Amino acid sequence: MSSSTPVDPTGTAAFAALQTHHAEVRPDLRAWFAADPQRAERFTFDAADLHVDLSKNLVTEETVRLLLQLAEETRVADRLAAMFAGEHINTTEDRAVLHTALRRPAGTTPALTVDGQDVDTDVQAELTKMYAFAEKVRSGEWTGVTGKRIETVVNIGIGGSDLGPVMVYEALQPYVQEGLSCRFVSNIDPTDVAEKTRGLDPETTLFIVASKTFGTLETLTNARLARTWLWERLSAAGALADDDEARRGAVAKHFVAVSTALDKVEAFGIDPANAFGFWDWVGGRYSVDSTIGTSLAIAVGPERFTEFLAGFHAIDEHTRTTPFERNVPVLMGLLNVFYVNVVGAHTHAVLPYAQYLHRFPAYLQQLTMESNGKSVRWDGSPVTHETGEVFWGEPGTNGQHAFYQLIHQGTRIIPADFIAVATPAHPLVDGDGGDADVHALFMANYFAQTKALAFGKTAEEVRAEGTAEEIVPARVFSGNRPTTSILAPALTPSVVGQLIALYEHITFVQGAVWGIDSFDQWGVELGKKLALEIAPALTGDADALADQDPSTGALIRHYLQRRATA
Ligand code: F6P
Repeated sequence: MSSSTPVDPTGTAAFAALQTHHAEVRPDLRAWFAADPQRAERFTFDAADLHVDLSKNLVTEETVRLLLQLAEETRVADRLAAMFAGEHINTTEDRAVLHTALRRPAGTTPALTVDGQDVDTDVQAELTKMYAFAEKVRSGEWTGVTGKRIETVVNIGIGGSDLGPVMVYEALQPYVQEGLSCRFVSNIDPTDVAEKTRGLDPETTLFIVASKTFGTLETLTNARLARTWLWERLSAAGALADDDEARRGAVAKHFVAVSTALDKVEAFGIDPANAFGFWDWVGGRYSVDSTIGTSLAIAVGPERFTEFLAGFHAIDEHTRTTPFERNVPVLMGLLNVFYVNVVGAHTHAVLPYAQYLHRFPAYLQQLTMESNGKSVRWDGSPVTHETGEVFWGEPGTNGQHAFYQLIHQGTRIIPADFIAVATPAHPLVDGDGGDADVHALFMANYFAQTKALAFGKTAEEVRAEGTAEEIVPARVFSGNRPTTSILAPALTPSVVGQLIALYEHITFVQGAVWGIDSFDQWGVELGKKLALEIAPALTGDADALADQDPSTGALIRHYLQRRATA
């Protein structure tokens, strides 16, 4: 059987053994840790700068052995090698999947040639172009049409052309050059453009239109709105003559684009000289490390962006070369498969104890759910088991005061990843609290939560505190709630790259075991098509309105009435 034939994981010997094993082994983290003082050490691994403790998961060494066997039977290693080699593992789009090539350091040997294309040379050429542009903006050499230096960069994109840049921009706030800031427009709700341009000076604003396809309704609509805003505001300031050439000149100085479709960029009116390319072998949700990160390269500079890419590469190398028994993304991906397919978990929480990572869960939602929310395999056959779990989360400690109740005492098992950094960007001290190191207080919560989830609190322990008997059940914590702890030295550009690559490869491993194409996203197409068909019904086309089903038609009529009487 070739690696291109998906294996049904539920038909493997390993899967049957895992089910039997799970039925026989009752998770008991208290007992497991008590009986095995080395458990924490044996289940803790390092991947580049990430220190990852898997010991509070509901697995024994036998569980991990069977999961590794499952990886072998489903040929995960073959698929991993195929991805790194540039084989067309995105079968439904007949494309290579080469986001890992975006972060290969310059001069890596042997060079990577895919489909007759020298990928390394192409990547380095685009990076060089992006870096040169970023330096010009940062230094003030690139100016707006009236000669003023750029102060605000507005990235217009959606999905992978937004979530990555905005998440990383937030994560790397301490590295952003003073006097420069970025804003991100994504939603076609006109409120987004209105709010994100509010208070901006058109003379010092640069728009980056980021769209892999340059055909996305939201992005092109928002780009046109932004262009109109620019022209109107410049005219109002007396900075723009009333002719097409002047308008074109303004676009040339205030708009650049990032896309794989440079012909469409030109058609929009953006000079191809001001466009940065990438390739169809980079999925949108895997593209923040391509020129889609132009806003970031401007904000933090080429040197930091290079460190960011190096972080990705370090995890790529770990993933590519580390035996699966110690391979962190492989182990975490297999644990996720175990929770979804054997334990029956439906969701997975990602809980960053680092405020700057507050958009990380949202970013991961596209990465994981657009990748693995599939019900057919890459050969079109239906899967026979659950696939993509729902990823969600909020930064700690905010989440503790909101939804952690359900994680601690609810009826569902919710595996959770706790992410923290040892060195804070702001080592503040609470003078009134007796000079308390606030980061230490924060981290005490990080450690406390996984401890409480793992070991819980028994009825005896609750009673021993003098709790009234009728309240005891409500105050018992069952424990055995699985968590993974990820600890990094600091939230550097490299660490942010490492975290992203870690989850990219976890996602890959899950998709590989499930036999699905984690790199297409056909599930978003139907809604896009219907929106285009419905749009005329909202602007007076009676036939289009009559074509709607009774529910949708009635809702549209209701909307139209409300809009007319507003
Ligand atoms: O609709 C889904 C999607 O295709 C995502 O996969 C992608 O990241 C997003 O739209 C934006 O696409 P583009 O970069 O082509 O505008």
